[in-house]
Amino acid sequence: MKIRKAIIPAAGLGTRVLPATKSMPKEMFPIVDKPTIQYIVEEAVNSGLTDIMIITNRGKGLMEDHFDHSPELEASLIKSGKTDMLREVTEIAELADITFIRQKEMKGLGHAVLKARSFVGNEPFAILFGDGVIDCDGTPAIKQLIDAYGEFGEGVLGVKKVPESEVHKYGVLKVENLHDNVFKCTDMIEKPQRKEDILSLYSITDRVVLPPEIFDILERTAPGANGEIQLTDAMKEIAVTKGMTAVELEGNRFDMGNKFGVLQANIEIGLKHPETKDQLKAYIKELAKEI
Ligand code: UTP
Repeated sequence: MKIRKAIIPAAGLGTRVLPATKSMPKEMFPIVDKPTIQYIVEEAVNSGLTDIMIITNRGKGLMEDHFDHSPELEASLIKSGKTDMLREVTEIAELADITFIRQKEMKGLGHAVLKARSFVGNEPFAILFGDGVIDCDGTPAIKQLIDAYGEFGEGVLGVKKVPESEVHKYGVLKVENLHDNVFKCTDMIEKPQRKEDILSLYSITDRVVLPPEIFDILERTAPGANGEIQLTDAMKEIAVTKGMTAVELEGNRFDMGNKFGVLQANIEIGLKHPETKDQLKAYIKELAKEI
């Protein structure tokens, strides 16, 4: 079945990037000249996903405004003849069919995903975490997963290898290589604390394609790590009973929920952006002499 729908969980509190997130969602952090959430929506659209639901919470209305028209701004750009800027601003409002829903209590990612049950209905769907930007020169990250869904017809996890010292912060997978960067996944553990729980260094990274059965499982998933309803705990049931596919993602991943990730994203994308690359390169070279 063709995958048409995407959900973007973006209701997290962003405590790792406080105080910036006290009143501003991390999904609105700019990377050069666009907010994080726009990169994610563009990835979904460029991957053929047509219906998008963003899961938000209180204080995240800025995101809704960003994907709406801004009549005053548009009138002013028309008046001043800034047609390129006008096109850019109006295109954002027409990027995709975007729906918003609120997660009223922060009970974890699994709980957030459950909010999209009636939007998704009975079809496979994609999840793109709202704070994870994956910059790809080739196939967009979620499209890499959609292609693997087309090949194997089972749930697909985007993965990256993490250093052993960091693995306790992630959901890790038991995997077996199928071909190239594609693996079979038969088990997973969220935030492994004991050495024997480290199933591998492959960890779930910001992108997933899931069958609709996940919703029945999430309904009965008890709170796990950090007292939250963990999506990993629900996906584990599918991995153990039916198996899932894991794809080692190609592309540069930036964690916008982490201070260093915000800096990395701005530097690396700034080094590619036509308006900033030359100036930024010269600046970094100069700065490097002093540090
Ligand atoms: P994170 O754990 O990275 O986000 O969740 P967080 O909760 O904002 O992190 P802290 O506060 O810095 O530790 C992964 C994804 O799940 C979403 C987040 O917005 C992020 O996209 N999420 C998490 C929700 O939508 N709802 C939740 O209750 C928790």
